[in-house]
Amino acid sequence: MSTGSSPRTLNGRHKPCTSVAILEHELSELRLLLEREAGVLLDSPTDILMARVSNYLESRHLGSAPDLLSLLRSSETECESLLETLLDGDSGFFRHTNAFQTFAGKLLPELHQRKSGESPRTLRIWSAGCSTGVESYSIAMSICHEVNCGGGGWNIHILASDIRRSALQVAERGLYLRKALAQVPRPLIKAYFAKVGEHLLAKPRLRNLVTFTPMNLARPAYLGRFDCIFCMDVLPHFSVTQKIALVQRLHLYLEPGGYLLLGDGEKIPSAADVNFQMEKESGAVLYRKPLAVAAKSGK
Ligand SMILES: C[S@@+](CC[C@H](N)C(=O)[O-])C[C@H]1O[C@@H](n2cnc3c(N)ncnc32)[C@H](O)[C@@H]1O
Repeated sequence: MSTGSSPRTLNGRHKPCTSVAILEHELSELRLLLEREAGVLLDSPTDILMARVSNYLESRHLGSAPDLLSLLRSSETECESLLETLLDGDSGFFRHTNAFQTFAGKLLPELHQRKSGESPRTLRIWSAGCSTGVESYSIAMSICHEVNCGGGGWNIHILASDIRRSALQVAERGLYLRKALAQVPRPLIKAYFAKVGEHLLAKPRLRNLVTFTPMNLARPAYLGRFDCIFCMDVLPHFSVTQKIALVQRLHLYLEPGGYLLLGDGEKIPSAADVNFQMEKESGAVLYRKPLAVAAKSGK
């Protein structure tokens, strides 16, 4: 434990490479605060985390961690701004391959058939924790490929949200290096992207399906009901308490018969105590909200 008399790191040593040192208890306080505000567990190695926070202090011209802590307590924007530098935004087109294959091969045909008699025929999908939008455009490509979006009389909407505004700006631009689409089949690239030098730009037929919006998943929001929610590689970064609360909200946000898709190997905690039917399909695990829940409770 540091004595607090001089600025020392967890090892009890001064950190040579960063100019603003952070004390052990300050880092713990910061972790607790961000867990409460954004649900996330900052589990990066301590030295990496300290260096990132220290860089942030410098970039904001703050002299010490207590200055940052008091700012964070009074400003939600400050919290979001710090998370920009601390959160992992790893993503990729069709990254969770099994889930995307199941979405295209099973869920979309099932939804298509179930909704064919409806008027208007609507499909609402949520990409929760969408990072730079590649997950959301992968969903849009799958839908365009399976459902006749243009001429088929379908009202299709993909809501894509993330807490990091910088990631959402990239998503809205829809401009990616060609190598980022290396895993995307050529016919899909040809149909849905335009070449711009070394980049590929999402065409309007994809972009028109997606609305990007900033949102903190640790906070309840009124969003209406979705037919499918993609919440991939987000839950593992949440604390247990926040994970349970988020799963319960995701259940609420689903239409009866709707599906929750998680990333590879992810599971919902049993303590969430929500009525999901777990289905295994081509290596993907799907969570389906039973239709009967709606019939019984009227929800
Ligand atoms: C590892 S990335 C996964 C991106 C994408 N879902 C995928 O699987 O390719 C996790 C994303 O969740 C976002 N995230 C983390 N905590 C969040 C929160 N409390 N509210 C909203 N988004 C959050 C991060 O900003 C990041 O973009």
